[in-house]
Amino acid sequence: MRSELVAVVTGAKSGLGRATTELLLERGARVAGWDVSSEGLRWLSERENTLTAAVDVADPTQVAAAAAEVRSAWGRVDFLVNSAGVLLVGALADVEAAEVRRLFDINVTGTTLVTQALLPDLIAARGAVVNLSSTVALKPSLSNAHYAASKAAVAQLTRCWALELAPHGVRVNAVAPGPTNTPLFAAAGMDVAVKETFLAERASTNPLGRTGEPVEVARWITRFIDDEWVTGHVIPVDGGMSIS
Ligand SMILES: NC(=O)c1ccc[n+]([C@@H]2O[C@H](COP(=O)([O-])OP(=O)(O)OC[C@H]3O[C@@H](n4cnc5c(N)ncnc54)[C@H](O)[C@@H]3O)[C@@H](O)[C@H]2O)c1
Repeated sequence: MRSELVAVVTGAKSGLGRATTELLLERGARVAGWDVSSEGLRWLSERENTLTAAVDVADPTQVAAAAAEVRSAWGRVDFLVNSAGVLLVGALADVEAAEVRRLFDINVTGTTLVTQALLPDLIAARGAVVNLSSTVALKPSLSNAHYAASKAAVAQLTRCWALELAPHGVRVNAVAPGPTNTPLFAAAGMDVAVKETFLAERASTNPLGRTGEPVEVARWITRFIDDEWVTGHVIPVDGGMSIS
């Protein structure tokens, strides 16, 4: 892939999307960061070689407009990271239909709409896509079944799209992070004490005895830029949680 890279990162406001964006900028890429909140993208709009857009990834009109803006500004897209996502915590007895629909709209349909909108550019560049799955897609856990199912859907989309797009030279992979300390948990409604208890419990049962840091996941996401002989894989980046 060419060294002067153009990348689109969704969910660039915080967490894994932001850490990935930082690594891409460090290697000299131009990065378009998309997120629901334009306020949250101010950190990025102040940097050189960037575009930012307030985009709800579940809204095809907003996604198409943001894709057109990148095309018009830079004329190519080599690398797409679908990091926008939400967590839903709740037992089967408690979850509501509207929140399940919104979860799948963002995590599954959003990942689809963004990849679809940028497909002509990715094919033209023989580029690469990295999706965000999760360890809970590989290993069942309590109280987040619908989130796990949405991330299992992302894992299988990754494998199917890898087959579909291989003839065009486009590689599609995913990372499956274990619990990583980001604003994801607060966004799902956990207060600080609940989040800390949740992450401490996950750390105590993790083979490496801790939770992950965003940059540790971001390093694996950006590896897929150069590792051109890998497609259709969902790589656990989880301190061993998925094998324990
Ligand atoms: N943090 C973890 O432990 C963990 C583990 C496994 C997988 N993941 C996945 O990694 C991805 C990034 O999560 P994170 O941990 O960085 O959390 P995060 O909350 O910091 O980042 C998610 C970003 O997505 C954005 N977003 C939410 N809904 C959106 C929408 N409709 N349109 C556009 N943007 C939207 C949020 O504003 C936020 O900036 C998510 O897909 C998440 O499911 C996270």
